[in-house]
Amino acid sequence: MKVKSVERVALGAGIALCLLTGSLSHSQSTPQKQEPKGLWENRSLSPDERADLVIEKMTFDEKIQLVHGLGWETLFGPPPESGPGTRAIRSAAEFIPGVPRLGIPDLQMTDAVVGVSNAGVKSRYATALPSAAAMAAGWDPALSFETGTLIGSEVRAHGFILSHGPGINLTREPRDGRIFEYMGEDPLLAGTLAAQILKAMKAENLVTGVKHYVMNDQEAGRFFVNSVIDKRSMRESDLLAFEIVLRQSNPGAVMCAYNKINGVYACEDDYSLNEVLKKELGFQGFVISDWGGTHSTAKAALAGLDMEMPGYSFFGEPLKKAVENGEVLMARLDDMVHRILRTEFDSGVVDNPPQAHVVDVVRGFEVAQKIEEKGAVLLKNDHGQLPLNAAGVKSITVIGGHADVGVMSGGGSGQVSPAGGSPVPPSPDPPPGDPLGVFSTTVYHRSAPLNGIAEKAKGAAVKFDPGTDLDSAAALARDSDVAIVFVVQHTYENMDLPNLSLPENQDALIEAVAAANPHTIIVLETGGPVTMPWIDKVSAVIEAWYPGIRGSEALANILFGDVNPSGKLPLTFPRTEADLPHPKHVDQPALDPNHPVTPLPNLPVVPGISTNQTPFDAVYDEGLKVGYKWYDAERKEPLFPFGFGLSYTTYSYSELRATSDSGLTVKFKVKNTGTRAGEETAEVYLTLPASTQEPPRRLVGWSKIALGPGEQKEATVKVESQMLSVFNPDKNLWEIVTGEYKVWAGGSSRDLPLSATVTLNGQVASAAEGGAHR
Ligand code: BGC
Repeated sequence: MKVKSVERVALGAGIALCLLTGSLSHSQSTPQKQEPKGLWENRSLSPDERADLVIEKMTFDEKIQLVHGLGWETLFGPPPESGPGTRAIRSAAEFIPGVPRLGIPDLQMTDAVVGVSNAGVKSRYATALPSAAAMAAGWDPALSFETGTLIGSEVRAHGFILSHGPGINLTREPRDGRIFEYMGEDPLLAGTLAAQILKAMKAENLVTGVKHYVMNDQEAGRFFVNSVIDKRSMRESDLLAFEIVLRQSNPGAVMCAYNKINGVYACEDDYSLNEVLKKELGFQGFVISDWGGTHSTAKAALAGLDMEMPGYSFFGEPLKKAVENGEVLMARLDDMVHRILRTEFDSGVVDNPPQAHVVDVVRGFEVAQKIEEKGAVLLKNDHGQLPLNAAGVKSITVIGGHADVGVMSGGGSGQVSPAGGSPVPPSPDPPPGDPLGVFSTTVYHRSAPLNGIAEKAKGAAVKFDPGTDLDSAAALARDSDVAIVFVVQHTYENMDLPNLSLPENQDALIEAVAAANPHTIIVLETGGPVTMPWIDKVSAVIEAWYPGIRGSEALANILFGDVNPSGKLPLTFPRTEADLPHPKHVDQPALDPNHPVTPLPNLPVVPGISTNQTPFDAVYDEGLKVGYKWYDAERKEPLFPFGFGLSYTTYSYSELRATSDSGLTVKFKVKNTGTRAGEETAEVYLTLPASTQEPPRRLVGWSKIALGPGEQKEATVKVESQMLSVFNPDKNLWEIVTGEYKVWAGGSSRDLPLSATVTLNGQVASAAEGGAHR
């Protein structure tokens, strides 16, 4: 039972990697030396033909070796002294030896959601980008493509050929600890942006990966939680995000999630893997289990899982036996191998293997800064508090959030190692013997907002107060023209937040400072939404997310108006947890003494995780009403709605026209009515006929428009027919219901000044006109 016990530890490589401390072998700095190959070297053959030619030459053992990792021990244990494991890059998420005699490369893989994870393990540098939520707040497909190019180039520079990320699990539970790694609550927004990242990474010649398929919508108890959801709701929300990614970017790998879906582990769920992903969506790549997410051999293999990670408990010897005794046909093993090989040929990693090199640090800075400048969201700006006048302001107090030394980072397998180390001592200290402590330990990137602010306001006295003593912070603020309070909320993989309040007395800090100075500006460095009991007492609020390695420069540019903010929320900020679909978080049940797990020698046991085998349900009975759809349907007023974000200028909308074609084309005019140039994200929503029983509105498209002062442009949004459709679970298809549809356009999900009604009949939409109604 050795391996099984390790499986139960089920920590994920991210955790494991934190334990490596240099324990694995040295990285490959040059591509593997290959033996003479065969006909599959012919680049004019298709990836499928080339894969089949290789498979003809492979032995049974070589095939088995390709469908599983080298084991938890390669992550937890001492470095191998011999064998293929010596070739693994030390910071890798996992490694699968290739077949050198046939020219098949080692599958060196890394996590790379907000940059290449964990490079610090081998003392290397990777760009720490702002959180994925910040990228999503840009609503900018071109920026997502640029992000993908940057991440892809760094993944290759580090010598990897497969990268895991982006993650597109929708925000059903805003206390989820991984919201910073995801792209919000809407399937079209998340799917569209993630597809651009993946397309760009593929263009860099990488095997791309998207995760976590599917319904991995909370972290607490993620190894055991059973996500309960009806089929239509899943298809129209969480699965739709993946469907969009699949259609638009054709990723190489899809990572199945830890959780169960309606009672079946995601990595052995025939419906989502075989039926939807492979048959319906025509996915040609391979399905890889999340780390420790494989729970069976024949069942998983037959349900569509192609690769077990990081071990071999089920797809090593047991799979070999299952093929030998006919439980799994050799044809299915060949299919797994074919999917892996054809993806490698298709991605270009065989013909164009990566050459490890130093990353382009300057380019990384540029992209990191751009993401933050486009993704920071101005939530409140009373009386034009912002932008600050650099020449006019005489004194500024910067308070809290360790803004004198850095910006906060999210934790877990998505963590990018802080260049130069974290400037803030880790807190809390990782509990000895608990690798999860590493995830929960705060990390800051060395980009100090205080410096950026001081640099802009050269004529002002700029002072810093750590914010730990409320009286001292308030006293300093009282004597300043302006107080800027940085508040932080640490979120990380494998844990959810206990609530949506800012931790560590920071609400009280804001209250104290705001009471002392009417010009109090709040900068939030949070994973996702927080409640703001002080909102009416402060003059301005910026959601900065986790701002990345150029957070200081980007935020200073926004605070002083060199950049006009244009970010819009990719998820709803509720007023109170009482307004959530599930006001009470679904916690992991207490430890089950009837299911103790014997720890393996040299391997840690994670209290509360590895010892807990109690399954429990997270019932997503809000169904279709994810995020803003819930607030609209339940008529709840959010604190800040989905799609919302202020600018230093203002926009007006007019002349909406909606016309039918294969989908729907929506045109309208947007005018910059202020005095500054800006970029507006003009959003289009649709109300479906009442008979569909859909939530009041769904996002069906958007357009990003750059406008000079006084300038007006026409926005054109083409709506794909799937976005007009509903999923019919009885017929197992998407259909457009005949009836009247209302098209809306405006600057947020709650600010839609334009609307028009169109009649769609079955598959065809007929023309309609409409105009401003306010
Ligand atoms: C995480 C994945 C990650 C994997 C490898 C798991 O714990 O859930 O997102 O890709 O570890 O590091």
